[in-house]
Amino acid sequence: MRLQLHPFDRRWLAERRAAADFPPRWETMAGLGEAAEAEVDALRRARLGAAGRAQQARARFDAAVRTDTVEWMDRDALSPAERTEMVRRLHHFNRAVLSYHRHIHMLRPAIDAVHARARRPARLLELASGAGALTLALDRLARRRGLPVELTGSDIVQSHVDAANRRAAAGGHRARFRRLDAMDLLPALTPGEVDVVYIVQAAHHFGPGALARMIAQARLAGARHFVLIDGRRSLRTLALLVPLVAVLSRGHRKLMHDAWITARKFYADAELELIARVAAGDARQIEVRAHEPAFVSLSIRF
Ligand SMILES: C[S@@+](CC[C@H](N)C(=O)[O-])C[C@H]1O[C@@H](n2cnc3c(N)ncnc32)[C@H](O)[C@@H]1O
Repeated sequence: MRLQLHPFDRRWLAERRAAADFPPRWETMAGLGEAAEAEVDALRRARLGAAGRAQQARARFDAAVRTDTVEWMDRDALSPAERTEMVRRLHHFNRAVLSYHRHIHMLRPAIDAVHARARRPARLLELASGAGALTLALDRLARRRGLPVELTGSDIVQSHVDAANRRAAAGGHRARFRRLDAMDLLPALTPGEVDVVYIVQAAHHFGPGALARMIAQARLAGARHFVLIDGRRSLRTLALLVPLVAVLSRGHRKLMHDAWITARKFYADAELELIARVAAGDARQIEVRAHEPAFVSLSIRF
């Protein structure tokens, strides 16, 4: 059994894209956020009316699984030091399951496209980079393989940024980290400062409206590519993420809690596409791809 209703979602997307009122008009970031929330909400409600008992049961289960609970990692009740310790542990999990290797592979097409077009290093900005390990892994690979990149990581939590900068300095990395609110990019970025904006394993921390605003702001800041990589919404991630985190974190309760919330929050493939089409309907390319066994990517070329 699958968790996502792929055929239903595909039909819904096709019908929405053909509708005269799609993509919805928006003038302000607040308006865009509302439009994206409304589109995703409409799809989620429509699934409950899908034809056939089996589909309806699946849609009801999917809806029941979904949650708005905030991860420990995002709770102000936790001290910055404890939150930084959590992202450090998450890094060990990522390394153990070879996530970075896979993420870099998914980012390569955007890097290569910028380099081929502009004949200069691609300037990359990671949003919500946590411990910063992916950007540092990309930096190591770039040096080994002569990959043309300039790398900046960012997070809203200052202590994550400080810890990542310390690791970068200790490892002789060129990558740097700065504090950035991923939902408020425009005042912080100089137009044309970045070519590729990417966000990895963090999209589920943001609602559809926030993701849409992130995409639109990356574009307004002059980025040519936006890449989102997250866990795939599936029964497999729902069943396996917590036990995996439990084993690899040696039973860290708050990380196990966050793993459970995370698997329940992952976006359906069609929801990611819907958000991208509301935020950047006229983009040159919008592609959602599954990367078995557990990831999904959304790649937008503006
Ligand atoms: C699950 S962690 C992912 C970290 C990292 N990308 C990784 O894969 O290990 C989510 C991250 O999102 C960050 N975050 C949450 N809200 C944010 C915001 N508004 N702007 C920037 N970062 C944010 C958190 O501080 C945390 O580091």
